[in-house]
Amino acid sequence: MCGIVGILGSGPVATDLVDALRRLEYRGYDSAGIATVENGHLQRRRAEGKLRNLETRLLTEPLSGRTGIGHTRWATHGRPVERNAHPHMTALVSVVHNGIIENYRELKAELTALGHTFETETDTEAVVHLVSDEMQKGLGPIEAVRVALGRLRGAFALGIIFAGHDDLMIAARQGSPLAIGHGTGEMYLGSDAIALAPFTDTITYLEEGDWAVLRRRGAEIFDKSGTRVERPLIKAVASSLLVDKGNHRHFMAKEIHEQPEVISHTLANYLDMAAGTVNFPALGLDLGGVTRVTVSACGTAYYAGLVGKYWIERYARVPVEIDVASEFRYREPPLGPGGLSVFVSQSGETADTLATLRYCKASGQRIVSVVNVRTSTIARESDAVLPTLAGPEIGVASTKAFTCQLSVLACFAIALGRARGAIGPEQEEELVKALTELPRHISTLLRNEDEYERLAHELSKARDVLYLGRGTSYPLALEGALKLKEISYIHAEGYAAGELKHGPIALIDENVPVIVVAPEDDLFEKTVSNMQEVAARGGQIILISDADPSKAGCKLAAHIRMPKAHQFANPLLYAVPIQLIAYHTAVFMGTDVDQPRNLAKSVTVE
Ligand code: AGP
Repeated sequence: MCGIVGILGSGPVATDLVDALRRLEYRGYDSAGIATVENGHLQRRRAEGKLRNLETRLLTEPLSGRTGIGHTRWATHGRPVERNAHPHMTALVSVVHNGIIENYRELKAELTALGHTFETETDTEAVVHLVSDEMQKGLGPIEAVRVALGRLRGAFALGIIFAGHDDLMIAARQGSPLAIGHGTGEMYLGSDAIALAPFTDTITYLEEGDWAVLRRRGAEIFDKSGTRVERPLIKAVASSLLVDKGNHRHFMAKEIHEQPEVISHTLANYLDMAAGTVNFPALGLDLGGVTRVTVSACGTAYYAGLVGKYWIERYARVPVEIDVASEFRYREPPLGPGGLSVFVSQSGETADTLATLRYCKASGQRIVSVVNVRTSTIARESDAVLPTLAGPEIGVASTKAFTCQLSVLACFAIALGRARGAIGPEQEEELVKALTELPRHISTLLRNEDEYERLAHELSKARDVLYLGRGTSYPLALEGALKLKEISYIHAEGYAAGELKHGPIALIDENVPVIVVAPEDDLFEKTVSNMQEVAARGGQIILISDADPSKAGCKLAAHIRMPKAHQFANPLLYAVPIQLIAYHTAVFMGTDVDQPRNLAKSVTVE
């Protein structure tokens, strides 16, 4: 988490640093700060909370200087107060950091004993004093950083500037992404290419263990052993440009409404709609020979993977093992040779997903990733990439990325089933048609949001909300609960409808809304029985279904009427009402919809 930037500019850099940080606020917004070299001295401005607080401070206390670094924080070590905000500094050196220095306690103890005074609760400050200490012993800045890097354990991306050195910045990457941007007589540093988009589209990604010495004329890159290395120059794609909210109140609303279009784009990448066939890219392996798939991801991306499991097992007849990435590798699952491991991630930077990818790679699996950011670390470390074409997703709550992940996984299930002979041409055409009709159905759904506003009014009074679903609607129930709790802060849980009577039914009373995701499919009757169990205990049922409400066989507090679609395509369709329920409830409650408390868009710590 956290976003870092650095600029060696030809003029004052403070405004550009803030501009770049705005593009990185998705990585955290607990505090923000910048530091520059001003007349040979290091100066900084920091502010608690969102970037706008720093901007306000800079209006009255501006910073000059052509060399600077900046940071937007998601707090790991130390409360989100100004004292703990980056950049951290001594008179000699100033540092911005993304990641965790795992051995900071022992470094702090050692440096304190040597007379260094620590002012913050952060792990980062250990880096500042470590480099300063080496400089005080007489080393130049580059040599001091080289020695300090050798002492650090953990995951980090660092940007470092020095008093008295106007044309020098050092970058280092171990476990957290870092991009160098090349300008004309100017150089840049950023957690990703998006941060640097206004300045340059020519990017070099540092590789694991790399560190770099930046000067205005260019960058020298060294690997972990200190050997000078060349890393490729890449042209960043235009999707890095900052997007705006259009005429929507929040990015989340805009992203929900973009779904018909981005799902169409994504499907068009994998389907020949006219022929009614999948048109899947070569993955460098024989899909027909795949006998086992593992899937791993976090949060919403995990729920997309869970829907994928139902599809792949039902339609391609291949067993799928799935786990959240934060647990997968701790089970040390035995992975036989020739297996296929699929990773799902919007950002492509999620630390747990990346660590699991590396575990599976080391176990000889073929690595395929479903990612939205094609230049991300997960994409770069995969054997094959299946991109989602959702475009930049800014709202912390994932919406369009989720449905695009589902789109790719649905196409993958068909391709796998076809390759294994589990799906014949007729069924392939039927399933492809089901997917191609989705954007039209979703557009219809998005035309009427009034009912969600009414529902939001009721849900906002609830302390707990339950979501129920069976089959592919079960992951949707989990996703619905996650969406509601992360942006409205109402406690919500998703359950497999059949599990209700094994414990959670004890929670039901007339104050607990129960949102039931139940398309009229081959599992509908069983879910109806579970609804009646809820109704018998006075629960307030909100049914999301294409079935006639009379078929519920009990009193409904509300019914969200869904269009009739093919059972295969339903998870994509039913994702929309659960997004709208969460969105309108959060708006009604006045929470910060796009940047909910304690969260960040990209989770780069384990
Ligand atoms: C969901 O709304 C969240 N943003 C979160 O659960 C997210 O899906 C998770 O952190 C995984 O992120 P990734 O897709 O970037 O890997």
